[in-house]
Amino acid sequence: MSVLLFSGTLFLFLSRVVAYNIIREYAGSTFFDRWDFYGGLDNLTLGNVTWVSRSDATSQSLAYVNSEGHVIIKVDNTTNVPSGQNRNSVRITTQDTYDLGSLWIIDLNHIPFGCSVWPAFWSFGPNWPDDGEIDIIEAINMMTNNQMAIHTTPGCTHSDNVDQLGVTGSTIDCSLAPGCVVTEISPNSYQTSFSEAGGGVWATQFDSSGIFIWFWSRPDIPPSITQATSTSSINISQWGTPHASYFSATCNISQFFTPQNLVLDITLCGDWAGVPSIYESTCANSGPTGLCYDDCVVGPGSPRFDNAYFDISYIRTYTSASVVPSTTQISTSPNFRAASGQRTAL
Ligand SMILES: *[C@@H]1O[C@H](CO)[C@@H](O)[C@H](O)[C@H]1NC(C)=O
Ligand SMILES: *[C@@H]1O[C@H](CO)[C@@H](O)[C@H](O)[C@H]1NC(C)=O
Ligand SMILES: *[C@@H]1O[C@H](CO)[C@@H](O)[C@H](O)[C@H]1NC(C)=O
Ligand SMILES: *[C@@H]1O[C@H](CO)[C@@H](O)[C@H](O)[C@H]1NC(C)=O
Ligand SMILES: *[C@@H]1O[C@H](CO)[C@@H](O)[C@H](O)[C@H]1NC(C)=O
Repeated sequence: MSVLLFSGTLFLFLSRVVAYNIIREYAGSTFFDRWDFYGGLDNLTLGNVTWVSRSDATSQSLAYVNSEGHVIIKVDNTTNVPSGQNRNSVRITTQDTYDLGSLWIIDLNHIPFGCSVWPAFWSFGPNWPDDGEIDIIEAINMMTNNQMAIHTTPGCTHSDNVDQLGVTGSTIDCSLAPGCVVTEISPNSYQTSFSEAGGGVWATQFDSSGIFIWFWSRPDIPPSITQATSTSSINISQWGTPHASYFSATCNISQFFTPQNLVLDITLCGDWAGVPSIYESTCANSGPTGLCYDDCVVGPGSPRFDNAYFDISYIRTYTSASVVPSTTQISTSPNFRAASGQRTAL
């Protein structure tokens, strides 16, 4: 239980935060204005890509808004890449950072897939990886399901016995290389079936009580989200059990995560999708050599990379902080942040 004191009145918050006010929407023609383009080699996941600058992404049509007003971020599928060179792709990071008490919603119609393709929608703190990482959408090659994860410094663990719909991976020490993975088991979370179902929505609650991620295929998106607008607040009380739940009981979120920037990127091969044994598991027969770089990155981009694109309707970010009345007495309360620290079983 935490207490907010304002206007001389005590308000008791007995359950987890359910109401959020919008911070901003990233969408349409202004989407890219508040993101930075990486503009360099993939020295993070060691993929065979160059993440281009904003001007190159624009001139090469790798980042644009289409006629439907959707944001497209894609791998170059028009260049015949010679052996020894990288293929162009995009990585962008929000200029805004998001503290504990925030909520992020992304609505997409298509997620990149295909042999060698490794897309991600994720967050990290400024001193990566020490400031924590949250992987919301991440999959490789011809995987059929999305996979969520958190990465931290030592001392944070995940349990396979928590209130979540997804399946906890074999590593429960979130400081080890795979991170604390939760595999999505709801249908249509990746690949062709994702877009054939009309796409879907992910929501991430970044809270001192835990990190909670939900996924809904298009037909299952709750009314609180389908009826929301770019300026409305949102009440998450009807969302049900998260698909991944990282409770503070085994991972003190305030300790292991600093404010986060959101990232969208697509790499190729690299230290997950390109590992031979992993690549072969879904792409062994995808080319003459059986090697990720040689069979995929090199050569004509089409049709190999025709599905290597994000199609995004919007990303909306919210905060629980402004849920309290917007009068001046509020923000001085020393217990203010504690309002976001409470969560009961769903
Ligand atoms: C959120 O919705 C629930 C269920 O409709 C309702 O009981 C609750 O009062 C709402 N909370 C806020 C803060 O609007
Ligand atoms: C990647 O390169 C950038 C720019 O040169 C550098 O700031 C960053 O520290 C590098 N990251 C890693 C993980 O090596
Ligand atoms: C492709 O990436 C791998 C590391 O993931 C690296 O070993 C290889 O040299 C790269 N190939 C080229 C041509 O850059
Ligand atoms: C969690 O971390 C915060 C920030 O480091 C610290 O203030 C708090 O005491 C920790 N909580 C527990 C239960 O260890
Ligand atoms: C590249 O892929 C897009 C879909 O992402 C497709 O519309 C286009 O025809 C492809 N380009 C080429 C040159 O084939």
